[in-house]
Amino acid sequence: MGSRQSAILERALMISLSTGCQPVRIPQQKIYNNMGKRKRTDGGGATALFKTKAGVIAATLGSAVGLGSIWRFPAEAQQNGGGAFLLIYLGCVLILGIPVMLAETSLGRAGRADAVGSYMKLAPGSRWWLAGGLGVLASYLIISFYMVVAGWTLQYLWDSITGALFAGADGESARLIEQTFHHKMESYIGSDIAPLISTYAMIVLNIGVLMMGVQKGIERASNIMMPLLFVLLLLFCIYALTLPGASEGLVYFFRPDFSRITWGVAANALGQTFFSLSLGIGVLITYASYYPSDTNLTRTATTVSGLTTLVAVMMGMIIFPTVFSFNLDIDQLRGTTLVFVTLPEVFSQMPGGRVWSILFFTLLLVAALTSTISLSEVSILFVQKRFKRSRLSATLIMMCPLFLLSALCSLSFGSLADLKIFGLTIFNFLDTFATNWILPICALCVVIFVGWFIPKGTFRREVTNDGRVATRLYPVVNFIVRWIAPVLILVILFSSILK
Ligand code: TRP
Repeated sequence: MGSRQSAILERALMISLSTGCQPVRIPQQKIYNNMGKRKRTDGGGATALFKTKAGVIAATLGSAVGLGSIWRFPAEAQQNGGGAFLLIYLGCVLILGIPVMLAETSLGRAGRADAVGSYMKLAPGSRWWLAGGLGVLASYLIISFYMVVAGWTLQYLWDSITGALFAGADGESARLIEQTFHHKMESYIGSDIAPLISTYAMIVLNIGVLMMGVQKGIERASNIMMPLLFVLLLLFCIYALTLPGASEGLVYFFRPDFSRITWGVAANALGQTFFSLSLGIGVLITYASYYPSDTNLTRTATTVSGLTTLVAVMMGMIIFPTVFSFNLDIDQLRGTTLVFVTLPEVFSQMPGGRVWSILFFTLLLVAALTSTISLSEVSILFVQKRFKRSRLSATLIMMCPLFLLSALCSLSFGSLADLKIFGLTIFNFLDTFATNWILPICALCVVIFVGWFIPKGTFRREVTNDGRVATRLYPVVNFIVRWIAPVLILVILFSSILK
């Protein structure tokens, strides 16, 4: 694009942003010329968009629903007071999650660029782009270890299909069976080669989807995988709730034990909200830059938050009744082992257990895959836009280093277990550093920027689609984004410091 023409466009954009008026008129011919040239110079061409409303929801929901809701939530709930944790989590989603999601998607759609570029466009000449850069970094670090656990799900799926998962685990006492699965998991993730292969397979799967682009890759994959996920969840729910003794498990999950609630637990619930809704680090900026301009942001945020919470609650309603019904030792349940030890143990005793096992790890894989895709997209769009690369080369540039970084994370359960950074293995260090530190800092930047520094009127215009959508909620949301969200995010940050 010629620099003079691009200056005209930028200026038109800025005027329209800062005054809330229509952009100044540019002769049609000039715009077409611009678009034509842009296609050639701007890496992936003009900004891609999601094609349908369903695609917008499916992709955003795909990012949100992941190991966080399916694997981590039931474990957190079990350890932190069951129904009491659930109540706090629901409160966090409602009061904080939805408004912050609105802030981040508004920032993304108004910027129509990658995480860094969106800040640059909306606050030219300032240093706010650094906040976007930190988001790109955080998302990259999160994929590097997330990919490893995603790889485990792939291996467990494979082992369910071949039956290797259940070899040697029948006909013994419950205790022995549990130990067998425990041992299987430990020797699997503690080995070097097998988890590495599945991590690599996961990276390759991601590359396959991501290089196809926004509509043909991300949107299409989400449109197929999210309905599948819900069908599977529903199947499991029906099965679990009709087991004898299911009600005991439900009582265990839903009964609030407020004595377990401490400040630390509340901060955990806040952290869980951010992680499970994919807030703060530019995933939503990136995805919202693909939202068509008539997408209703409020409806999208409430639908995605609501469905993500539903998935988490359904997981609790599946896991606890099943565990109770099969008389497993509920006190033995721990985060990691819930999904990789306890459930296989249950499957080994269920009629048709192998099929259920295949279905369950398919569910987990689908959830993990759509989340890794969204995390990867942050840095891919960043490279595409900032360094003017094609889709394919941006995908390869960002995904290939993961073959090394994720390998280090994977090996940190095996040969590299003794390599410690600040007393933590590489995996745990990246997890702690990215999720407990950088994520809240980035989220803080998002809410402060959208609450206080974004060009006047931008947030309202995005939330109301230029006045076409009713605004009743907007004043509340704006108040939360300006005043409440920053304070609560600081609480998360301080609780990480204290830990
Ligand atoms: N939300 C996903 C999960 O629950 C993980 C995830 C995807 C994520 N994108 C994110 C977490 C952005 C934090 C920020 O598993």
